[in-house]
Amino acid sequence: MFLLKKGYQFESETDTEVIAKLVYHIYLQNPNCSFRELVEQVIQQLEGAFALCFKSKHFPGECVATRRGSPLLVGIKAKTRLATDHVPILYSKDAESQNPDHRPHGRGDLPILPRSDSTAEFQPLEDKEVEYFFASDASAVIEHTNKVIFLEDDDVAAVKEGSLSIHRLRRSLDDSHSREIITLKMEIQQIMKGNYSSFMQKEIFEQPESVVNTMRGRLNFETQAVILGGIKEYIPEIRRCRRLMIIGCGTSYHSAVATRQLLEELTELPVMVELASDFLDRNTPVFRDDVCFFISQSGETADTLMALRYCKNRGALIVGITNTVGSSICRESHCGVHINAGPEIGVASTKAYTSQFISLVMFALVMSEDRISLQARRSEIIKGLQHLHEQIREVLNLDEQVKELAKDLYQHKSLLIMGRGYNYATCMEGALKVKELTYMHSEGIMAGELKHGPLALVDNKMPVIMIVTRDPVYVKCMNALQQVTAREGRPIIICEKGDKETKSFASRTLEVPHTVDCLQGILTVIPMQLLSYHIAVLRGCNVDCPRNLAKSVTVE
Ligand code: G6P
Repeated sequence: MFLLKKGYQFESETDTEVIAKLVYHIYLQNPNCSFRELVEQVIQQLEGAFALCFKSKHFPGECVATRRGSPLLVGIKAKTRLATDHVPILYSKDAESQNPDHRPHGRGDLPILPRSDSTAEFQPLEDKEVEYFFASDASAVIEHTNKVIFLEDDDVAAVKEGSLSIHRLRRSLDDSHSREIITLKMEIQQIMKGNYSSFMQKEIFEQPESVVNTMRGRLNFETQAVILGGIKEYIPEIRRCRRLMIIGCGTSYHSAVATRQLLEELTELPVMVELASDFLDRNTPVFRDDVCFFISQSGETADTLMALRYCKNRGALIVGITNTVGSSICRESHCGVHINAGPEIGVASTKAYTSQFISLVMFALVMSEDRISLQARRSEIIKGLQHLHEQIREVLNLDEQVKELAKDLYQHKSLLIMGRGYNYATCMEGALKVKELTYMHSEGIMAGELKHGPLALVDNKMPVIMIVTRDPVYVKCMNALQQVTAREGRPIIICEKGDKETKSFASRTLEVPHTVDCLQGILTVIPMQLLSYHIAVLRGCNVDCPRNLAKSVTVE
């Protein structure tokens, strides 16, 4: 808004353009500032997560990079030995006295900030012919150099006349004096997969960090404020809508199923959840006052994209929720949320699912922020989100146990996964993981439908996994469990830690920590991700590239 009022015009729909225009605006007001000082002033105005690299024709031969929330590293390639293994941090004197929380929030005039006054540029290298690389991931620079510096939040790295300096406006929490130049010891492939045997396994184990990255800069656990910068301006319009439609394919669709109940509860709006292909087949009626969410990890799935265009043509508000900045769904949406899960390479989606789940939960929290009657509920959910990463770590510790279970299951032809309520999505997503990775038949069964057919499949040989957690449908789940055991079924149960009563019905159990009911699906899906992974390995399947499937399905 601030830049629009100043007469700036925007050529794209990307928020990055706002930053470029803001640098230019501050440059016009402070033409004598150095490039790095301009960037320092700009980042004080920014909210949310970013990793940025600036180049300008006004500062030839210079480059400035900075990050907050998103990863950024500097690769250093020198022909001769580096003179040091640390680059000192230069702190701005003036900035020490500045209000650290100063943000204009898009209103009023931007302040002309005092110029920072760093000490002389530091020349860390003996070699003048040095090359620098900026990247979000080591895998992008490893073919050029194995020397990198991982930048911290709010570090500003400047390259000028061949020398690199790192600056901060204020002292960091750990009061570091320098950033270490790290020598990466691994080969390209290893960097990308780390110690994991496949990308999928790596991505499963990244979830404690990826869920935090999804929430970073958006959820303040102290004040319980939730801000989704990409849709903030549209919230009043969304509150007035006729209904919410959430559309996607595969795993992305399941994230909508997983959060639908919470969205209905916290938005008090009708919520339709749709598979993109079926939605188009039906020529579903869409109206101008509908709000349509398109969930897609890649942002390129053809069915989802076509459903988006279909809804856009009918005048609905389009909200994109993707993991790929600049993707078609991002570009063609009116507004959106980037889930920030980091690149997902394994064809079977894992960390994108949990991050999509959390993004939709955060949206529900935003929609209910001024509803007094919902504050207690919001508060328990926010507390649940705060501890999620530790609890995911605990679930990942079940890996050995899951591997043992996989040994019992991998030679079977079929695997049924049953549950209801908040955990129904875990059944569908778990069954999808089993199918796509292991080529075994698997079905996610709504436990409420058991009597209407699936019960006929149950005997003492059919492997059955049941998800039974202490939520509002616990008693009904126990009923289903008893029906299964009465037919000599020997269910494997995913339940909450220490739930002895439920465990007494199980042939085996996988116990996950307790969290608030609407988030429990994040903790119950991870054992299913691990199980499908281990079964796939035992069956000799290609975990990262299952047969006949593609990561991004760009055809109808
Ligand atoms: C493909 C992938 C799935 C994914 C689905 C939707 O089928 O194999 O893992 O869930 O597409 O992809 P999207 O990128 O739209 O989330």
